[in-house]
Amino acid sequence: MDTHIKHKVYVTRKIPEPGPSILKNRFQLKMNPRADVLRRENLIQNVRGAYAVMCMLGDKIDSSVMDSAGPNLKVISCYSVGYDHVDICEAIKRKIIVTNTPNVLANTTADLTFSLILTAARNLVNADRHVRGGNWKFGWTPDLFLGYDVHGSTLGIIGLGEIGTLVAKRARGFDMKVIYHSKTRKRDLESELDITYVSLEELLQRSDFVSIHVSLNKDSFHMIDKSKINLMKKTAFIINTSRGKVINERDLIRALKNNIIAGAGLDVYENEPISRSNRLTQLPQTVLLPHIGSATFMTRSKMAEVAANNIVNFFYQRGVVYKIN
Ligand code: DGY
Repeated sequence: MDTHIKHKVYVTRKIPEPGPSILKNRFQLKMNPRADVLRRENLIQNVRGAYAVMCMLGDKIDSSVMDSAGPNLKVISCYSVGYDHVDICEAIKRKIIVTNTPNVLANTTADLTFSLILTAARNLVNADRHVRGGNWKFGWTPDLFLGYDVHGSTLGIIGLGEIGTLVAKRARGFDMKVIYHSKTRKRDLESELDITYVSLEELLQRSDFVSIHVSLNKDSFHMIDKSKINLMKKTAFIINTSRGKVINERDLIRALKNNIIAGAGLDVYENEPISRSNRLTQLPQTVLLPHIGSATFMTRSKMAEVAANNIVNFFYQRGVVYKIN
């Protein structure tokens, strides 16, 4: 007999299978039928009485949400690897477990990082617009959309976690020289991947592509600002698939406008979604994506499975729970 079958689990947005089926079998599942973010008042109302809440980026899970769920709330399951949208200190105080979805999305996000490197370096977005806009008049031309070589260049990885490591692996296929900076030095990976540990300053000075893979916390907030960008080469690109707030966006815009660096490939921003008037959208040397690092059919489905199993395994204590706190 399932003792938890009547326990309410609230999922803040529609997630793919097998997530809903896993939860439906064991709990009273309530799920927002839509994929877009709930209004704050609806989020607060809908979590009432829940034993577990599955949340997404953009859902601010703070003390008001936890108060509304009430004393039964035991698990906050993030449908993401990042958890900066959850007030972890508040969860710890209330003995609520917070979980996330590591492992399953790292390769997919590393793929997207590489797409951004190639797209930014070779000016692909502008070239595509040129063709679609009917502006391609003269066939092959010696100076049409000249870009920068990726092969043989130097890649600087900031943050050598799961995703940073997988980006380094991909770089080997392009004969790139890889240097990295990370909170903890990873000597075993240095020999395995032929990568070199350097200070953040040296990384910024030497890299042709700087790719950011740190999580957002008080140490990484605005880690890349004017003083750091000024260290970069004029021909270098900055790539960010981690969290927007790691870069001071105003400083980045100013640097791009003044040609301090060559360009940027961004999947994340200080505030998401960015507005149409955000100056990044007016700069031709930026490639801008709408936070889709993990967005493949397969990976989103695996994330749903892990996020649902984190809840099941907590209540049934049968398997792995990816706990953060
Ligand atoms: C994450 O998981 O933190 C990504 O940013 C979204 O998939």
